[in-house]
Amino acid sequence: MTSPQNSKSESQILAEIIIARITRIHASISKIDSLRTSRLVNDLFTHLVKLCTLPLSICTLPLSIDVKALPKEVQSMGESLIVLSSQFSKQSPERSWRGTTHEGCLRGFGSNASYFYYFGYTSHEATHFDNFDIDEAANDVARRIVATDAELEKRMKFLTCDIMEVKEKLGEYDCILLAALAGMTKEEKVKILGHIKKHMKNGGVLLARSAKGARAFLYPVVEEDDLLDFEVLSIFHPINDVINSVVLVRKAIC
Ligand SMILES: C[S@@+](CC[C@H](N)C(=O)[O-])C[C@H]1O[C@@H](n2cnc3c(N)ncnc32)[C@H](O)[C@@H]1O
Repeated sequence: MTSPQNSKSESQILAEIIIARITRIHASISKIDSLRTSRLVNDLFTHLVKLCTLPLSICTLPLSIDVKALPKEVQSMGESLIVLSSQFSKQSPERSWRGTTHEGCLRGFGSNASYFYYFGYTSHEATHFDNFDIDEAANDVARRIVATDAELEKRMKFLTCDIMEVKEKLGEYDCILLAALAGMTKEEKVKILGHIKKHMKNGGVLLARSAKGARAFLYPVVEEDDLLDFEVLSIFHPINDVINSVVLVRKAIC
């Protein structure tokens, strides 16, 4: 029988194997000139995602790895992987692996792939969506997809601008969805969260996308400490092949 001490060291060994493989994939991806869709690029990113999201039934490790507790160079590699993954999903939106609301107005920051998640909300036919993305090309792709549904198209606007430039308008929304990659470093994410909190309406709801465990090699983590002065309504960490966690918070009614 395995003693708890042995099983601890077994998990450490397994964690080291997973991180060593992620490090090798990072080294391979870093050497590639273009992250445009190719067999090699797809295989590398697919392998990376599989390692970071091994289903709980196979291995609990990807969820329990604490990236913050890893050596600085591994953390830096994680930051670099987030940027590379973002470049990959931008260059190949169709391959990208990569939002309850009531009647009202809902806003999305970073619409590139996020609009796929909105489809869960769109059955609320009185809800309007304003999607803001800094990247016009991302908005173009989103507009083309939404144009396939004439009714939905009337309720969805796509605007190109930086979140940080939107101020009073933020106070109009009942619910704000923040894309996982809007704010790729901790510093940027905290700045964006602070900006949204400052300008959103009291009692408004914010849904931020986050990551847990090894998934933090793919997406930035939003922690409760980053959401001071918000009431945390719910935090959900997926245990299947879904990557992003969701953090639902409400701005206090003063
Ligand atoms: C890859 S997508 C999001 C996908 C992710 N799975 C999600 O739904 O949260 C991130 C989008 O955020 C946009 N973005 C990043 N920083 C931004 C900013 N400061 N203002 C507006 N959009 C931003 C990017 O251009 C990109 O289209």
